[in-house]
Amino acid sequence: MSMLRLRQAAPALLLAVCLLAITACGGTEYPNSTFNHHTDFNTSIDALWDRLLFWGTVVFVVVELALLVTIIRYRKRPGGPAAKQIHGNAALEITWTAIPAVILVLIAIPTVKTIFETQAPAPAGALKVEVIGHQWWWEFRYPELGITTANELYLPVGRTASFELKTVDVIHSFWIPQMGGKRDLITNKTNFLWFTPNADLASSAWNGFCTEYCGTSHANMRFRVFTVQPDEFASWAAHQAKPAVYPATDSVGSTGYVFPAEMLPEHTVPKTPIPAGLEFDDSLLEGGDPVAGMTNLMIGGCIGCHTIDGNPMAQSPIGPNLTHIASRHTLAGGLFPNDAPTLARWLKNAKKMKPGALMNVVGRGEYEPLIKANVDGGLDDKQIADLVAYLRLLK
Ligand code: CUA
Repeated sequence: MSMLRLRQAAPALLLAVCLLAITACGGTEYPNSTFNHHTDFNTSIDALWDRLLFWGTVVFVVVELALLVTIIRYRKRPGGPAAKQIHGNAALEITWTAIPAVILVLIAIPTVKTIFETQAPAPAGALKVEVIGHQWWWEFRYPELGITTANELYLPVGRTASFELKTVDVIHSFWIPQMGGKRDLITNKTNFLWFTPNADLASSAWNGFCTEYCGTSHANMRFRVFTVQPDEFASWAAHQAKPAVYPATDSVGSTGYVFPAEMLPEHTVPKTPIPAGLEFDDSLLEGGDPVAGMTNLMIGGCIGCHTIDGNPMAQSPIGPNLTHIASRHTLAGGLFPNDAPTLARWLKNAKKMKPGALMNVVGRGEYEPLIKANVDGGLDDKQIADLVAYLRLLK
């Protein structure tokens, strides 16, 4: 293409690139895009964004057109007259002060209105959810329902969820791009956020993120949100509020509603690879003994950090509550799928699986950075397989 033709084609090319950039945001093929809004909160903020974009575009086009016309029409020509010298123009000056003032008012009124709407107390009858940030996982409590869970949030559609945001350590930030958020969890302070998942969102799963840098595994501090029908939520909640089976038996009875694994959208299924050099004999998982596994909770030191309601030995609130761990789809702050082989490797060496993880290395002979030595006691592969068998019963 000659230089001239390239110049002629440049505006069209630029337009095409701009259009591509605009359409690239918000398509359903971008499942973590904040431009897909599915709640009252997101929708009202999106309306503000549209208004800002509209007025911004109007101002840009008018100013650039005026600039181009002025440059071309009043450019210096050979032999042209000398420029006329003037001092001020009251009419013009009043106009270009008044127009921006009016535009600012048109932006300010809806902005202030939206701030008051979204900062108001949650409507009566909202579902209370406490969100507690930990390095690097999420604790979710439903205080009215007696539920404590981790990294997976169930929300009934059509009902407002009212979040109380807290942290036990550093500042984190709660964000579900398609629902709302980016609200910080601040040390020694409680923050609030509420939104209502649209009624047509039943049987959907979403990604949630920590969006404030909080240390080594900030990028690995994720969670999942399941928006479900109110009766499915009630079924899930009724079971989650129950204690775990104790002593361990195979008969777990009804497990309540759990979001079906086969309905998980591709983007909510973790694909983190198992780190190289973390070996585990998967054949041991076949014959895991849950009763022996329960004893290994103590030998492995798990009871120092974890709660399993119904198991009087495991009552520590430091780590994620494991009462119904087998009903979750993910492990380790949403980083890995929750299946037996991955759980076994996580137990064996969590710090290898997730950089900076505070979970102790449990596998015998594995390197534990905390003591700068290999674990002397801990659990061998067979003991870990038994422990996995027990944890897999906690549906
Ligand atoms: Cu928690 Cu970043």
